[in-house]
Amino acid sequence: MASFLALLGASAVTAQYVPVPWAYVQKEPPVQVSVNGAVRHQTMMGGGCSGAFGVACDQTGSQGLSPENQQLVSHYLFNENLGGLSILRNRIGSSPTDGILSSCPTAPNAKFNYSSLGTNDATADSCQLKLTQQAKIANPDLFIYADAWSAPGCFKTDATDINGGLICGVRGSNCTQDWRQGYADYLVQYVKFYADKGIKVDMLGAYNEPDFNPVSYASMESDGYQAADFLKVLYPTVKKYRKDLLVSCCDATGARQERDILYDLNSAGAGKMYDVATWHNYPSEPKQKFNTNGQPNLETEWSDGSGTWNTTWDVTGQEAEGFQWALYMHNAFVNADTSGYLHWWCSQNSSGTTAGSDAVLIKLPYNSFEVSRRLWAFAGYFRFARPGSVRIDAMSSAETLYVSAFENKNGTIAIPVINAAHFERDVDIKVDGCAKLGKKMATAYLADNEHNNTAVARYTVKGGVIRASVLPRSMTTFFLE
Ligand SMILES: *[C@@H]1O[C@H](CO)[C@@H](O)[C@H](O)[C@H]1NC(C)=O
Ligand SMILES: *[C@@H]1O[C@H](CO)[C@@H](O)[C@H](O)[C@H]1NC(C)=O
Ligand SMILES: *[C@@H]1O[C@H](CO)[C@@H](O)[C@H](O)[C@H]1NC(C)=O
Ligand SMILES: *[C@@H]1O[C@H](CO)[C@@H](O)[C@H](O)[C@H]1NC(C)=O
Ligand SMILES: *[C@@H]1O[C@H](CO)[C@@H](O)[C@H](O)[C@H]1NC(C)=O
Ligand SMILES: *[C@@H]1O[C@H](CO)[C@@H](O)[C@H](O)[C@H]1NC(C)=O
Repeated sequence: MASFLALLGASAVTAQYVPVPWAYVQKEPPVQVSVNGAVRHQTMMGGGCSGAFGVACDQTGSQGLSPENQQLVSHYLFNENLGGLSILRNRIGSSPTDGILSSCPTAPNAKFNYSSLGTNDATADSCQLKLTQQAKIANPDLFIYADAWSAPGCFKTDATDINGGLICGVRGSNCTQDWRQGYADYLVQYVKFYADKGIKVDMLGAYNEPDFNPVSYASMESDGYQAADFLKVLYPTVKKYRKDLLVSCCDATGARQERDILYDLNSAGAGKMYDVATWHNYPSEPKQKFNTNGQPNLETEWSDGSGTWNTTWDVTGQEAEGFQWALYMHNAFVNADTSGYLHWWCSQNSSGTTAGSDAVLIKLPYNSFEVSRRLWAFAGYFRFARPGSVRIDAMSSAETLYVSAFENKNGTIAIPVINAAHFERDVDIKVDGCAKLGKKMATAYLADNEHNNTAVARYTVKGGVIRASVLPRSMTTFFLE
């Protein structure tokens, strides 16, 4: 960590915790928090973002970002000691120009004349290859999620990869030929092209928001029955190629929309034909556990599509602020056993004044960059609750003190605490049931209007108890190691 912070020109010095003079005074006894490692929930996969639709080109230099800054931005996002993200969601192109088939095969059983990811590695796969390589330098264990928005047009009822339409061969499709195997092979071929570049794709998806069919960009419809018709072909095709390549379903627009698809899928006998239930958070957020058959669920896309660029933590409570994101993630992890959370775009050179500019975590005007404090909410979870960690039980005696807890594989424990009250409050955190607790010390990492997930205090853990104080409207992650 020290060497990396030196690179940033920052210092790793642990600042002494200083109470804020204007903070309202607490009128309640210390909040009692109990963490119980004996009650175990979901295994975490991590946090992430996407460079789809060409924005990966901005981060890899097309708008003037220098090679040094390109790598620095990747570090901000993906380094374990900074943003802590570990998942990159790449889009599998579907048009003759951004996909891997420049011309349509004459029939499903004819030869597929695949092109490649691109002839120039700097721009291949709409710059996603280069972004992946840079992100992997920042995080060698990066998890790659390759996801298609549509099948190539000639495999579909509407003969184009935009404007909805169905895969030919699923129920309700009206084609003369069945292209399901062709589409499954197409998706696996994309993974093979990445393997040729030395990059292992970890998860493959055939859908993006199949409950929504925009006219202007790649899209494809599917309900759960139709997804069952396709996943019954895709799942065995993928497992024949590589057993550890995960299959997702189905990146619905919202949590409720995903539940509907999973319900149909089950009813159609394909409830086991996916490994991870993937969903977005646009029209609906999860209020309860997902209706999977034991598979994990992962939030794979969301952002404030209406707001202009905003970097703030907690000013007016608007959707794009860091503090709100800390709460969205808390609710998903605790109420729906969600295993990870992805922001929509990672970064973009955007003017910042148009609606939708908040769709990025980092803005890249020419050769500079600006980090949204939303990233520090992600960091508050994912720097410390690393992939493979398990969420363990955590209870808080106060409604406005939101607590979750995670145990890493090596026994270190992360306890993110969000204080939604407008006053500073004392907190007693009692940790039980963690076999490897030993003589750990707790470091408090603070995110608020003034702190970017910075270490502000160290506590001894006496008899499993940490007596601490948390600032108003803040997220403090206690990391026990
Ligand atoms: C295969 O695709 C390439 C472009 O990727 C094209 O030049 C070539 O003519 C195609 N071959 C056939 C047989 O369609
Ligand atoms: C199949 O359905 C699509 C959309 O529902 C329609 O546009 C198309 O013309 C139909 N094709 C045939 C061959 O009936
Ligand atoms: C972010 O939004 C808040 C509330 O709308 C506003 O007060 C603040 O100035 C914005 N910050 C930036 C950098 O745009
Ligand atoms: C890149 O960002 C700068 C600064 O915000 C802006 O002036 C410029 O128009 C952007 N370029 C593109 C291609 O969007
Ligand atoms: C925290 O990060 C924000 C951008 O996210 C930046 O503007 C601010 O200067 C940083 N503050 C410190 C203390 O590093
Ligand atoms: C344990 O794992 C966490 C998360 O990967 C890491 O931050 C920490 O340094 C590790 N600690 C030890 C003692 O290995």
